[in-house]
Amino acid sequence: IERTFIAVKPDGVQRGLVGNIIARFEARGFRLVALKLVRPGKEHLEQHYAELKDKPFFPGLIEYMNSGPIVAMVWEGLDVVKTGRAMLGATNPLASAPGTIRGDYAIAVGRNVAHGSDSVENAEREIALWFKPEELVDWEQSQKAWIYE
Ligand code: GTP
Ligand code: MG
Repeated sequence: IERTFIAVKPDGVQRGLVGNIIARFEARGFRLVALKLVRPGKEHLEQHYAELKDKPFFPGLIEYMNSGPIVAMVWEGLDVVKTGRAMLGATNPLASAPGTIRGDYAIAVGRNVAHGSDSVENAEREIALWFKPEELVDWEQSQKAWIYE
């Protein structure tokens, strides 16, 4: 079963969207595996977005991500990487469909309120970067039989 790394970015925390974003993943039926509020610092954020380091917007992206606390989460479930991305919407919020997180709560690409891993490989890399193994919690989701056939 698959896991993904989802984060509420500093603007999402400041705008009081943490509960709403968690609620969407919970209500969908995904299992919460890890959760913390963190300010990890620039070096960690540069590692997180290492693939983008040559982009012109990279310094601004790191400054934005370093501007306040982030809610870091791991969610688990069937096809959760791709489905998590669909729930977030497009990178540019103006291209995100209403009903998605970015499509409901954001306007600017540089203030798009939440992050989601874009592949299973990146999810594994990001989970290992943001969480220690002992921070990943194993628990029985009692609703499981009502969520999966
Ligand atoms: P994440 O879930 O945050 O990784 O976003 P993404 O996968 O939809 O997009 P990508 O990984 O390509 O870019 C990471 C983040 O950089 C985006 O979420 C934006 O906040 C920011 N970003 C991407 N493209 C641009 C851009 O053209 N301009 C600006 N200002 N920011 C950008
Ligand atoms: Mg990305």
